[in-house]
Order: sequence, then C-alpha cells, then structure tokens
Amino acid sequence: MRLKDKVAVITGAASGMGQAEAIRFAKEGAKVVVADLNLEGAQAVADEIKASGGDAIAVAVNVMKTEDIINCVKTTESTFGPVDILVNNAGIFDKYTASLDTTLDQWNFFLNVNLTSVFEFSNAVLPSMIERGSGSIVNIASVAGLVAGKGGAAYTASKHGVIGYTKHLSSEYARYGVKINAICPGTIETPLVKDVLAGIPKDLVPTRTFGQVEQVADLAVFLASDEAKFMSGVAVPIDGGFTIQ
Ligand SMILES: NC(=O)c1ccc[n+]([C@@H]2O[C@H](COP(=O)([O-])OP(=O)(O)OC[C@H]3O[C@@H](n4cnc5c(N)ncnc54)[C@H](O)[C@@H]3O)[C@@H](O)[C@H]2O)c1
Repeated sequence: MRLKDKVAVITGAASGMGQAEAIRFAKEGAKVVVADLNLEGAQAVADEIKASGGDAIAVAVNVMKTEDIINCVKTTESTFGPVDILVNNAGIFDKYTASLDTTLDQWNFFLNVNLTSVFEFSNAVLPSMIERGSGSIVNIASVAGLVAGKGGAAYTASKHGVIGYTKHLSSEYARYGVKINAICPGTIETPLVKDVLAGIPKDLVPTRTFGQVEQVADLAVFLASDEAKFMSGVAVPIDGGFTIQ
C-alpha cells in the first residue's frame, strides 16, 4: 500500500475526479476525508469506501468559506490526526465564457472557488506539515492552466493561477520536506464537462480519446506518495498529448 495510514483531505470528492481519488487513496491505505459542498454525495463516497474496508468520513465544506476550511482541518485532526495529504480538487467550469461576456461577480466567483480556496486550504495545513517535516499537496489545475482555449477567461486565469501558486509554494516550503505539485488534466469524462463534451473534437487529442477519472486518480496517488519525493512545484499534464502540439 502506497499511502498506508496517511491522512488525506480531498476537496470536491463527492463527484468526478475527487470521488475517484478518494476511492483510490483509500485502497492505498489512506484515511480519507471526503470534503464537498454536496454532503449527501460526500457521505455516499465515504460509505462506499467504508463498505470496502477503508477508512473515511464525509465533511460538508464550501471551499469559498474560511470557517468551513478551518472546521474541516479540525475535524480531520480530531478524527484521524494531522493532515498528511491535501488534494485541492474542487472546481467549477465557466464553459468557455469570453472575457467581455464575464461579469465581475462571475470572475470573482470562479477565482474564489478555483484559486483562492487553494490558497486558503493550503495555508490551513502547511504549518503542521512544516512542523512535522513532511506532507504533500496536490493541486488539480488543468491544461487550461498551461494554454489558452481550454476554458473561458476566468477559468483559464484561475488555473494559470493555481500553477503559479503551486510553484511559489514549492519554492518557499519544499525545503521543509513538503511536496507541492499540480496535475493538469485535459478533457476527462466527468459531470463537470458533460454539457460541452459533444462539442470537443477528439481529433484534437493525439490519443483520440478523452481521459477517465481513474487515470487522474492514479497520478494523484503517485504525486501524493513518497515515490514522488524529488518532484517539486511541477505541473504534470495528463491530457492524451493535447499540450504537445
Ligand atoms: N473534467 C475535466 O475535463 C477537467 C479538466 C481539467 C481540470 N478539471 C478540474 O478537475 C477538478 C475536478 O473536476 P471534475 O471534472 O471532477 O468536476 P465535478 O463537477 O465532477 O466535481 C467537482 C466537485 O466539486 C464540488 N464543488 C464545487 N464547488 C465547490 C465548493 N465551493 N466547495 C466544495 N466543493 C465544491 C462539487 O460539488 C463536485 O462534487 C476541478 O478543479 C476541475 O476544474 C476538470
């Protein structure tokens, strides 16, 4: 088991990639906190993990709320112990809305959910990781954080921000034994993109396929584990080759 007895908090874990990461982390021996706005969905994922012999709890968290983040970290510590792994996965998609069609309220909303939450959640777990000299933060960015045209103005800016913030955190805290890396998925078949999937041409992807949540979960396990100990501040594409072109 590659994450035996590690305490992992995964945001947005009631659905899509977060759900797959929660299930996969538990199979690797992690004690998983399934954190999501959707408590019912999070509870179903935690129940599924427990039914297969794993350890998990569900916690209601709106990643836009500081008090929810603090409460989630406290609940994790009192249930399982200090956080070893944080996966900042929760995110929302703007369906390619151009800048001139994006209101300031929409801009702030996307930046808050996709980027500011990563800052707040990371700051909530970093002091304990630094004190213990170990920990791993995995940020789910996007190929929209590497190139233009994979999201709208706010989504693209937020995901570029996640990658920049990942690099910054690493430059500050890697020296204390904390790993901070990002994953940049291409199109992955999840509820987030179900409305736009039909309009995305597969022939733009060298593999001619979309990705599956389990493939992202496998990469997240690797980055969270000790196998990736010498990886720091990187943004790893998992996109069927989309960004090589
Ligand atoms: N699906 C893709 O093609 C794709 C590609 C690149 C990156 N991503 C990123 O991957 C991550 C996961 O996306 P997904 O496709 O699995 O989406 P999804 O919609 O299936 O799941 C997202 C989860 O986040 C939760 N969430 C949303 N807002 C929240 C909030 N304020 N507080 C707490 N939880 C909240 C939702 O309830 C949901 O359970 C996101 O950050 C997304 O931007 C997705």
